[in-house]
Amino acid sequence: MCGIIGFTGVKNAAKVLLEGLSELEYRGYDSAGIACFTGDNTITTIKTVGKVASLNACIPPELESSCGIGHTRWATHGGVSKQNAHPHTCGKVTLIHNGIIENYLALRDELSQSGRQPVSQTDSEIAAMLIDSLYQGDALTAIREAAARLTGAYAFCILFSDQPGTIYCIRKGSPLVACHCESGSIIASDMVALLRYSKDYFVLEENHVARMTADGISLCDLYGNPAVPDYQTVTWDTSSAQKNGFKHYMEKEIHEQPEALSRTIMPRLIKYQENDTYYTLPDFAADNIPDTLFRGLSRIIITACGTAMHAGMMGKILFERLLRIPVTVDIASEFRYQNPILDQNTLVITVSQSGETADTLAALRLAKTAGARTLSIVNVKGSSIARESGYVFYTHAGPEIAVASTKAYTSQLAAFYLIAFRAAFANKKFSAQECSLNMERLLSVIPALHKILEAKEYTQEISRHLTKATDLFFIGRSMDYALSCEGSIKLKEISYIHSEAYAAGELKHGTLSLVTADVPVIALATQHDVLSKMISNIKEVRARGAFVILVTVKDAVIEESLYDYRIDLPDSDDWFAVFPAAVVLQLIAYHTSYLRGLDVDQPRNLAKSVTVE
Ligand code: F6R
Repeated sequence: MCGIIGFTGVKNAAKVLLEGLSELEYRGYDSAGIACFTGDNTITTIKTVGKVASLNACIPPELESSCGIGHTRWATHGGVSKQNAHPHTCGKVTLIHNGIIENYLALRDELSQSGRQPVSQTDSEIAAMLIDSLYQGDALTAIREAAARLTGAYAFCILFSDQPGTIYCIRKGSPLVACHCESGSIIASDMVALLRYSKDYFVLEENHVARMTADGISLCDLYGNPAVPDYQTVTWDTSSAQKNGFKHYMEKEIHEQPEALSRTIMPRLIKYQENDTYYTLPDFAADNIPDTLFRGLSRIIITACGTAMHAGMMGKILFERLLRIPVTVDIASEFRYQNPILDQNTLVITVSQSGETADTLAALRLAKTAGARTLSIVNVKGSSIARESGYVFYTHAGPEIAVASTKAYTSQLAAFYLIAFRAAFANKKFSAQECSLNMERLLSVIPALHKILEAKEYTQEISRHLTKATDLFFIGRSMDYALSCEGSIKLKEISYIHSEAYAAGELKHGTLSLVTADVPVIALATQHDVLSKMISNIKEVRARGAFVILVTVKDAVIEESLYDYRIDLPDSDDWFAVFPAAVVLQLIAYHTSYLRGLDVDQPRNLAKSVTVE
């Protein structure tokens, strides 16, 4: 949940670390710090409460160093304070940590008996104490012995005060990617921090130790057996991880959705010939996902967190409609405690933008252990979920920096459509012709997104009416209900307005008592098969005085007296209306947050990548 970076090379380390921390800030932003070897080979540590910009202001211009480590924190153990900020030092060891050490209290008590007293409330400082207690000049031995004692998840970058210019790194559960380039050796929680130096990187294997110097990175397992880095190349460039003229990353990422969808869909299209006709079908040969994965299934379980789970709710609707087998959607953090029924005819689909979400990873591991088939829909290449899943479907949405997920969500939706169509075709539930027709409809979503982005000004005007709200409801039926859940999380996470998504028909069973003239309702009515029922539900809230924002389709005949604002989506088939509708809800959330003067990209208490359970 934190961002970590280490650099040793020929550049000014403090500058490299600060630049990298600003790229990683989406991972946590309550405090930040760096530790560098300075002129006389001593370690100088500077840390502060607040964002990377506050840390920047604390760094003296004369600080010269070519080797150091940096951290941006999302507090778990111990409140937000300078003491609890990283790096932590004990004896010869200074380290930064991303993850959670579960047995830190027992270790703290044990280490305290030998006279070591922590100064912070963090689990990370205990790791520094432990490694220091085991260090007698041989870093690998100390790290190996410490790893044997630590339970939980960690990525560490470690400086030993008697080894200037060298950084040791190890990870278990938490991500670390690294590269050696002309400027030196660099390691970070995410590729975005490496991009300005190299497009080539490798993922540090779990339980492998990287020893980094300016001249290179050597890898070995915990017993000293050498390992070779498996370099990969990113396909996007530095501009993908910058704002490119937009005020916020979220705004930029909302606008990137047509392009992101095309990257998800286009590489998976093939021309398929049947008799004398060619059809456009989705094909996953290049992803190494065989049709057999979708055959002989008795059920599908989709598990994920937050926005990714909302994409899964849409997946359920599609799979059940097309495959006619039971599909459940489980919150990943609950999945393990439900004693799920899993066997080799169950397909477990995990969905994750980061590919590092601890609860989703744990759900995947459980599914694998139980012998279920596993497929993951992931954005970040080489991430833990991607690596551990039986099969992986990369969304190729490009880096998503804003904490509120936008383009990752719509590309997850596109992934579900492609998978559902292919699975239906593979199971002969869809003819080539039906599949091809739906692929065309899916492709028509891309111009529809371009079109709906033109409604930006209008959504801003609507948002002006929401800035004073304290509570708000999203209502919809079927696909619109799944989308309401996403609209609601988007609004509340960045505007801090309490909102709830309700299945429109359920409102009258209790919750309608909360609807008053002060409670705006965003009503989604894009599905013709439930339109008349949806109109009745809108009437119910309108009769209680609600301010109604209606998101619907052009041909829906709805009395003007039932809404205050109406947004008509570009023409699309019912199944595909959720894509432009999602963009409308993202824009409303974005403008509402901005108009309320909030930090759109980095909302309070949150972090982009949730690597703790
Ligand atoms: C909301 C949001 C979160 C994530 C959730 C899962 O905008 O971004 O709800 O969707 O934390 O993250 P990933 O997809 O990385 O597993």
